[in-house]
Amino acid sequence: MLSIKGVSKHFGGLKALKEVSFNIDDNQIHGIIGPNGSGKTTLFNCITGLLDVTAGNIYLDDTEITGIPAHEISNLGIRRTFQQGKLVPSMTVVENVMSGIFDFSRNDIGDTFFRRPFSKSKKESELRAQAIEMLDLLGLSASADRWASDLVWAERQFVQIARAVVSKPKLLLLDEPASGMGHAETQEVGELIKKIKEMGITPVVVSHDMKMLMNVAEMVTVLNFGDNIFEGTPTEVQKDPGVLEAYLGAE
Ligand SMILES: Nc1ncnc2c1ncn2[C@@H]1O[C@H](COP(=O)(O)OP(=O)(O)OP(=O)(O)O)[C@@H](O)[C@H]1O
Ligand SMILES: [Mg+2]
Repeated sequence: MLSIKGVSKHFGGLKALKEVSFNIDDNQIHGIIGPNGSGKTTLFNCITGLLDVTAGNIYLDDTEITGIPAHEISNLGIRRTFQQGKLVPSMTVVENVMSGIFDFSRNDIGDTFFRRPFSKSKKESELRAQAIEMLDLLGLSASADRWASDLVWAERQFVQIARAVVSKPKLLLLDEPASGMGHAETQEVGELIKKIKEMGITPVVVSHDMKMLMNVAEMVTVLNFGDNIFEGTPTEVQKDPGVLEAYLGAE
């Protein structure tokens, strides 16, 4: 599905990614791990078009997506969440989720020009119904009409996921979905990721929570100082001396 070929990203003299290459297969939960500053978020930023790559190519199926604008990549079916849990605080939960459909179906130049909130191609009631359906599916519908600003951190993270999933993308990039969560909530995140895979969406998960990640991921890529140092199943990764050293060295 996604093919990353020799991707480098430099910030001045800092090499955040150094010729990283790997594939993400269809309908398989792919984990990405690595110590702080190893380039995980930078990789997501490059895949989603928020950052231009310094070198290399990225393909979604047979389409090269390197260098194309972020909203087009989003329309091609790559959605993400952010490490910092961004929601629009002055909108309700369901409205935040609806905004995830709006981006995806945005094709009316009038809407863009006049900054109308929702595309005319879909009525607001339809968008709301679709968003509620997704919240239901993810077990979040009880919070639909709460203000995003009233949510606690963990709830915000879940709503971010709902917003990214509601358009049924091909690929869902989750950047630290369980950060700042307790044990029970982290387990819920793991279950949610499995549910998302069952919807036919391919989840790619960056997480510091090894237990959760090793439990859900079917394939794991390990980054260290911008290098892709290992790739394998969770069992293989946990036994690899190079990976252990990268983590112990980072302590
Ligand atoms: N916009 C930027 N400008 C300059 N340097 C950056 C920028 N974004 C990231 N970096 C640097 O690139 C390196 C990789 O950062 P990145 O955020 O991708 O790491 P990460 O693996 O996501 O780390 P964490 O686990 O802490 O989230 C770091 O050294 C970081 O300081
Ligand atoms: Mg990061």
